[in-house]
Amino acid sequence: MPDFARLSQELDALTGWSVVPVPMLIPDHVFFWHLANRRFPAGNFIRTRDCLDYIEEPDVFHDVFGHVPMLTDPTYADYMQAYGRAGWKAMRHNRLKALGALYWYTVEFGLVIEDGTPKVYGAGIASGPREAVFALESRSPNRIMLNVDRVMRTDYVIDDLQPTYFVIESFADLYHQTVERDFDRLYRALGPGFTYANTAVIDVDDVLHRGTLEYHLRGGRRSGAVPV
Ligand SMILES: [Fe+2]
Repeated sequence: MPDFARLSQELDALTGWSVVPVPMLIPDHVFFWHLANRRFPAGNFIRTRDCLDYIEEPDVFHDVFGHVPMLTDPTYADYMQAYGRAGWKAMRHNRLKALGALYWYTVEFGLVIEDGTPKVYGAGIASGPREAVFALESRSPNRIMLNVDRVMRTDYVIDDLQPTYFVIESFADLYHQTVERDFDRLYRALGPGFTYANTAVIDVDDVLHRGTLEYHLRGGRRSGAVPV
């Protein structure tokens, strides 16, 4: 098991973040409060062998292997703090679902361009053995450049591989696209539900790869479909 005190000490020296162990999923406002104060809440339990590939509730492996390394990057660390601050505003506007989609498609399942090629930075991809290959190499999923307005209107699946991945140019790109945005205005323009299906490709998209969606068309994980 990781030594949380030592992790926090080393992370603090790099970016001023620390890790706080939590026993389960915590309420949204507590989660945002921790992030806004540069503390990452990490699960202190570990998954069992039967859900080695993916679990919906974040365990210590997901959090410490997936999220914590990203917090050593100063720009990414600032993005995470800004996300925590943005949470309260989303709660006031009753638009948590939209902000949740942004977290999902960046922090959990985001891809970033490095040397001209998409790489994984999302913790949800990095903490399982299968999705990294699917996200980067499969012809099935869409790979689309991140557009914050569009992503916050896009539905997502929590129990299967993603039909669509959103790609950023860099962490600075991610930070500027979000921190410099007028979220009050955006929340007023957003409906209560999602506008776009998680498989959709729309006119404004800057598409890197238009997926065949064959994995999901075959029924995905529940049907026993094998990712291609
Ligand atoms: Fe996570």
